[in-house]
Amino acid sequence: MTAFVITDIGLLATMDPSLGDGPLGEISDAAIVVERGAVIWVGPAAQAPAAGAVITAGGGCVLPGFVDSHAHLVFAGDRAAEFAARMAGTPYSAGGIATTVATTRAAPDEVLAAGIARHLAEMGRGGTTTVEIKSGYGLTVADEARSLALARGFTRETTFLGAHVVPVEYAGRADDYVGLVTGAMLDGCAPYAKWIDVFCDRGAFDEDQARAVLQAGIARGLVPRVHANQLEAGPGVRLGVELGAASVDHCTHLVDADVEALAGSTTVATLLPGADFSTRSPYPDARRLIDAGVTVAIATDCNPGSSYTSSMAFCIALAVRELRMTPAEAVWSATAGGAAALRREDVGVIRVGARADLTILRSPSYVHLAYRPGVDLVAAVYRAGRQLR
Ligand code: NIG
Ligand code: FE
Repeated sequence: MTAFVITDIGLLATMDPSLGDGPLGEISDAAIVVERGAVIWVGPAAQAPAAGAVITAGGGCVLPGFVDSHAHLVFAGDRAAEFAARMAGTPYSAGGIATTVATTRAAPDEVLAAGIARHLAEMGRGGTTTVEIKSGYGLTVADEARSLALARGFTRETTFLGAHVVPVEYAGRADDYVGLVTGAMLDGCAPYAKWIDVFCDRGAFDEDQARAVLQAGIARGLVPRVHANQLEAGPGVRLGVELGAASVDHCTHLVDADVEALAGSTTVATLLPGADFSTRSPYPDARRLIDAGVTVAIATDCNPGSSYTSSMAFCIALAVRELRMTPAEAVWSATAGGAAALRREDVGVIRVGARADLTILRSPSYVHLAYRPGVDLVAAVYRAGRQLR
């Protein structure tokens, strides 16, 4: 049976304002018809056409599957000891990345692939149906290329992050390393990547180096996104806007000029509250961005150093409590906002023609994602019409 109808949806948040009430396009007592992996009908349950199998949402709320537009899933090992030390007072620094680079280089392909699969399964159970995956723990031509080739086996949203940090063998020779990233490493990685990224921050790459990396990627047809303004205010956000980045990510430390640049652009500000939580940093002020007219996305930043959570629901709860977003804004940012950050129109929304990526909650509203933090509210998940949970 390729067609089915999901009915008894207490509240459907489509993320398409033309389909229902308010900015989330909400419909009460709704139904969705799915055929061959796509949505073919959305509307009030009383008007739903007959279409194969009938699945009940049990009166729960249905959302598009979460779009996690920022994750670092190609790695081996963890850094629980570093986290424990941090909670006891040791500050986070970009230098910790080197620990994961060593374990990742030493891991066979099968171990890295199994890790990606395990984390993606965890994300799927949590309601996430689109995931971006970055390289950045290889930092040699061969290790970056294999990281991206492995990631490509799981998602088309792959990001070359050879400029994550200067590896130990290039200590004191950052410009030489940038030469490698923009030369042989880009040659080896571009075939497996859609996006080019750079960590432009204290302890990583400065403005000139970041510009060189992003421009080299652009020249190869990759689209830029930037790790910017996580550890301190700096040039990353404005550089990303200047170069037409799809997204600038973190945005924890912003000055007025950063907000103004974003407001006058099509660049999305992707906020990663799991990283601020796990590094015990200040939180970005989403209210300031949204009120200025900036498009805001929420993502997990799932990685073993700064944010080892795969839970978009947890990030939504943090966004509401700590970033001063409304529950509706946070849910939009975790779905349609993530899709905007990846320049995708087929996900993050429930409308005719969209991929049938659906998260069914056991709660009557999406508000419960923030109102009941830490509680597993996901009843079922569909990705392209296939049930993941
Ligand atoms: O997005 N900020 C840079 N990169 C990651 C952290 C990587 C790590 O600590 O291993 C991030 O937070
Ligand atoms: Fe990151």
